[in-house]
Amino acid sequence: MKKISIVYWSGTGNTEVMAQAISKGASENSEVKLVKVEDATKEDILDADAVAIGCPSMGAEELDPDYMEPFIASFENIDLNQKPMILFGSYDWGDGQWMREWDERMTNYGANILQEGLIAHLSPEDEDLNKCEEIGKKLANA
Ligand SMILES: Cc1cc2nc3c(=O)[nH]c(=O)nc-3n(C[C@H](O)[C@H](O)[C@H](O)COP(=O)(O)O)c2cc1C
Repeated sequence: MKKISIVYWSGTGNTEVMAQAISKGASENSEVKLVKVEDATKEDILDADAVAIGCPSMGAEELDPDYMEPFIASFENIDLNQKPMILFGSYDWGDGQWMREWDERMTNYGANILQEGLIAHLSPEDEDLNKCEEIGKKLANA
């Protein structure tokens, strides 16, 4: 059975709801580890067959500076070896710039970004959650 890791940071719960929907989609035919970045280790990424990583737009189109930014930076000098990966997160007033830059960054770090990062405006709606479940299925079949 494939091992899927979903690592996320969420301040007010919107990105967390997305993470849970991805987990639901992936759980049908894979072993899923859903973990907050505060509790995650590098192995959660490196040992998984495919991963989803989630963080809302914070700062000025940036990742959460306290936990997600240092976690992501820790992969800068580790070859991700074309690890199948999809990013996701919630935002409010921006246009998704943080996600475009994050996708590009992970590609530069050696990840195999399977699709554009999924962004949801504030609290995800049913349509967003359906897309999250599809992401889970895509990772499980990657
Ligand atoms: C400190 C802070 C900075 C933020 N910066 C941005 C931003 O640059 N662009 C944007 O679109 N939304 C920004 N937001 C809005 C959040 O991305 C939005 O509220 C999101 O739904 C939070 O997701 P969460 O519930 O998973 O924490 C910011 C929110 C906070 C609290």
